[in-house]
Amino acid sequence: MRTILWENNTIKLIDQRKLPDTFEVLECKNVVELGEAIKTLAVRGAPALEAAGGYGVALAAFERDFTSVEEIKEYIKKGAEYLASTRPTAVNLFVGIERVLKEALKGERVEEVRELALKEAQRIADEDVERNRKMGKIGAELFEDGDSILTICNTGSLATVYWGTALGVIRSAVEEGKKIRVYACETRPLNQGSRLTTWELMQDGIDVTLITDSMAGIVMQKGMVNKVIAGADRIVRDAVFNKIGTYTLAVLAKHHGIPFYIAAPKTTFDWSKKADDVKIEERSREEIIYCNVKCGKTLMAPQDVKVYNPAFDPTPLELVSAIITEYGIIHPPYDRNVPEILKL
Ligand code: MRU
Repeated sequence: MRTILWENNTIKLIDQRKLPDTFEVLECKNVVELGEAIKTLAVRGAPALEAAGGYGVALAAFERDFTSVEEIKEYIKKGAEYLASTRPTAVNLFVGIERVLKEALKGERVEEVRELALKEAQRIADEDVERNRKMGKIGAELFEDGDSILTICNTGSLATVYWGTALGVIRSAVEEGKKIRVYACETRPLNQGSRLTTWELMQDGIDVTLITDSMAGIVMQKGMVNKVIAGADRIVRDAVFNKIGTYTLAVLAKHHGIPFYIAAPKTTFDWSKKADDVKIEERSREEIIYCNVKCGKTLMAPQDVKVYNPAFDPTPLELVSAIITEYGIIHPPYDRNVPEILKL
């Protein structure tokens, strides 16, 4: 099924907090429930957040009765503001929210506002599936039969509406008949790699081996991987923001002469910004001091230890060999080629 969809005026999403042991569908009936789902990573990954933001604004339009068009417009604006406050780093969340809000505000009656909002939200979700397929096909040409690829976090169907970005490229290469082996970093502290990426790839029968994040160095040193690919939450003029640990992989890849690729749709580019303008989400100490969200309250560190828990890091663009998008593969120099290929 799609990671996120609209049914009977509710948003249904695969609850990613429960995977891999339980496959459960979470229903969000109002914007506050959706906001909680976003904050707690029941739904996560930049393109999935773009769809969630869009559907969320539509949900605000459907979650109660309105007596005038002014009232519904005020209400969805507040809903949009709340959703925009849930997570700061992935620019796609804001893209989805703003796109649907802009369209909905053109409505002249309550019903029209609802209709416009829902149509636009559906369009975002459908476009995501289509662009991931394109990106996959385009990116697959960088991968050869026999490649062994290191990846981080989860960039598959679960991080998008369907198919994936970086994992989508791997899926497409495998679909073309190439034999590919994947090494998945567990991606501490919330383990999107060990819980979600391995689960997705095993379901597809793709050869995957799990490693802890600190094993990335030895895996490269021993020649066990010959390419690295990751997704992105925001790409600015001088850096790619992605899951914490991506920067480490890029530096290691450079040292070992291994290509380091990023796969992301056009909506992840925030080209008017630079790294210093981007807010990196800092998450709770509990994610680090306890075993993790899924094994309850087993302490892994002294309860009162000082903790630093940034969810993302910026990788300087000079460490990125190429960026795969649905418009083509972008090679350096990015300051010239990104605006030219993406028409930014
Ligand atoms: O904190 P998360 O799980 O939302 O972080 C997700 C990532 O960092 C992904 O790599 C990124 O969003 C790209 S997903 C196609």
